[in-house]
Amino acid sequence: MESSGYRRKFYIESYGCQMNFADSEIVASILNDNGFGATGNYEEADLVLLNTCSIREKAEQTVRNRLQLFRQIKEHRPGMLIGVLGCMAERLKGKFLEEEQLVDIVVGPDAYRTLPGLIGEAETGQKAVNVLLSREETYADISPVRLDSNGVTAFVSIMRGCNNMCSFCVVPFTRGRERSRDAASIVRECRELFSKGYKEVTLLGQNVDSYYWMDEASDTVVTFAGLLEKVAQIDPALRVRFSTSHPKDITDEVLYTIARYPNICKYIHLPVQSGSTRVLQLMNRTYTREWYLAKIDRVRSILPDCGLSTDIIAGFCTETEEDHQESMSLMEYARYDMSYMFFYSERPGTLAARRYQDDVPEEIKKRRLDEIVRLQNRLSQQKNREDLNKTFEVLIEGDSKKSADDWRGRNSQNKVVVFPKADHPYRKGDYVQVKVNDCTGATLIGTIIE
Ligand code: 5AD
Ligand code: SF4
Repeated sequence: MESSGYRRKFYIESYGCQMNFADSEIVASILNDNGFGATGNYEEADLVLLNTCSIREKAEQTVRNRLQLFRQIKEHRPGMLIGVLGCMAERLKGKFLEEEQLVDIVVGPDAYRTLPGLIGEAETGQKAVNVLLSREETYADISPVRLDSNGVTAFVSIMRGCNNMCSFCVVPFTRGRERSRDAASIVRECRELFSKGYKEVTLLGQNVDSYYWMDEASDTVVTFAGLLEKVAQIDPALRVRFSTSHPKDITDEVLYTIARYPNICKYIHLPVQSGSTRVLQLMNRTYTREWYLAKIDRVRSILPDCGLSTDIIAGFCTETEEDHQESMSLMEYARYDMSYMFFYSERPGTLAARRYQDDVPEEIKKRRLDEIVRLQNRLSQQKNREDLNKTFEVLIEGDSKKSADDWRGRNSQNKVVVFPKADHPYRKGDYVQVKVNDCTGATLIGTIIE
């Protein structure tokens, strides 16, 4: 990251979902335009920002610990400003300033354009807060400044907010109403990335399948399937991924579009949350177990080689042992390649916090989560073993974590593949054919095939 030429320096840390990481790149762009260059070293920063997550209590605790550290540093560097961005800023609003005296600036996810003004206020010793949510803001015109980039893969935000109101989830309150970004600006951003050498874009939204843009010039509607197609047509050498899909909204049209374009990756993250229809109803997910299973069948029939992952919550309000068993049997049926697994964490203000009692004891939540994790480990192992002796096209993302003699990349199904560089002249950002000859639970191991 080039920070020379800027008068002052900012340091930013991001927590939580990919959307937050994408937002930090928008913040970086706004700050660059206002004389702040990025630094990876907080000790030399004039401005320290934490882009925060509220999804579970533990996420908030991590941020609080970090803030304590920065406050200590500030004692020796009084001129340094500390700002909280993102979901915790939105959820706690002025509390950070008034009660906890931890920070100087508080900015919610829709107010990043006002950050320069807020910095100015904070510099004069005023407490600066803007947590207004918007129905329109998509930051469509702002070109993100890529932070910590490998130069090969990038996130592109296509919408903001969420209208789903899952009863456990704080996101609709912290990120506001759902709105889609102008399709032309999305395609432009992806095209620019490709022209700079990027080979993969991940289209991001809380619920990408409800993307909707009315193109007034041509009087046509762009759906998510339409958007995927537009991005896929930029170049066959640009891979397209997307996250997150909601099972209730992913259409056959989307599945057929994925099937039609080799550069749209064969991987769907399809959060189920629970395998019990009764619990799903309390969660306000709007589908049943059977409906979800039918969706899995549909994915498998249209996209036979599609990678599949999920999010699953153990110990939601009223969950019985039978409900838990239903989550496990659903996982077996779906044969997920990977899962993000959590135990339920009640969030203030959500529908579940207001309506239901958080009545599953912590030890039981943890035991059920542990069973789910062990089941997923077994499924991942099995799924990886099925890939032995297969050959995949892999996009090289960089050196493997363990050795500079090995490359690390992903196949279309989103599995990490590690293989020796050997004497081949490949570089980061190249596509290579790799034959798998070994695996762990999380990684495929192979060799380059000429
Ligand atoms: N407790 C536990 N997990 C949660 N998630 C969202 N809210 C909660 C909560 N209150 C999980 C869901 C969601 C993922 C991003 O985080 O599984 O899909
Ligand atoms: Fe939360 Fe549901 Fe929105 Fe995902 S779709 S962010 S789980 S409300």
